[in-house]
Amino acid sequence: MNDLGPGTMKPPAGDYTIPQNWSHYTAEEHATWDALYARQTKLLPGRVVPQFLDGLKLLGLEGPGIPNFEQLSDILMKRTGWQVVAVEGLIPDGAFFDHLANRRFVAGNFIRRPDQLDYLEEPDVFHDVFGHVPLLAHPVFADYMQAYGKGGQRATQLGAIQRLSRLYWYTVEFGLIRNGDDLAIYGAGIVSSAGESVFALDDPSPNRIGFNLERVMRTPYRIDDYQQTYFVIDSFEDLLHQTLDQDFAPIYAAMDAKQDFAITDIAPNDLIYTQGTQAYASAKAAK
Ligand code: PHE
Ligand code: FE
Repeated sequence: MNDLGPGTMKPPAGDYTIPQNWSHYTAEEHATWDALYARQTKLLPGRVVPQFLDGLKLLGLEGPGIPNFEQLSDILMKRTGWQVVAVEGLIPDGAFFDHLANRRFVAGNFIRRPDQLDYLEEPDVFHDVFGHVPLLAHPVFADYMQAYGKGGQRATQLGAIQRLSRLYWYTVEFGLIRNGDDLAIYGAGIVSSAGESVFALDDPSPNRIGFNLERVMRTPYRIDDYQQTYFVIDSFEDLLHQTLDQDFAPIYAAMDAKQDFAITDIAPNDLIYTQGTQAYASAKAAK
């Protein structure tokens, strides 16, 4: 049987998608999702941007069990025109950008083992669906994700993928957002991690700096541990405005003459929410 139901548009072949094979998940795999889900939904209220919790509800992600992408896509399609399609794991940039530009979010169909609840390197279905999909129900964020895909196609031609990937990292994966007088988390890498959901907001170690496009694109990031710097957007509308309404070609070109920042730097024009102690990263490095 084909997992792509009659209501769902079939993406082009050779695009790395595979059937989700939802009926093949074991009871233990569904239980892993439920355990992760319970842990995060207990932690997130008061920490995550409210639109994320709205998205969980609107999309029927409250479970139990690993969501069926076909049913999820039916609901999401009606709200913002997005679909969720399954892949085995990470896919090449070109295919990834093409999916986003066509409002298809690619999600790994496997789930981590019970001994990997806290950390794994490859994005699994919990990270991809719980972390990323709720905000795809938000019209402005949904538009940002598509714009990013188109921006990726453009950056490929301009030789600026590394610059643009920093934007993805510091927004879609590890972004913070203002919420009244407080900060809140919205990046998928944070909201799907119990440890980083707390660290990103409460720990004195990392810098928290106001979002600035060029600053972000000149800042490297780490993939092996909690971030040393987080960037704070004012709103999703502001993020979309600052990215969609600007031609990145001259921005990329101007950056070629400038150096990258070090990961812990505070720059002269930074809007500083927290100047981090970097104690967490230093302690790790000393080991
Ligand atoms: N405006 C960007 C460009 O000219 C495209 C983009 C939009 C990139 C939104 C990221 C996010 O390349
Ligand atoms: Fe991700």
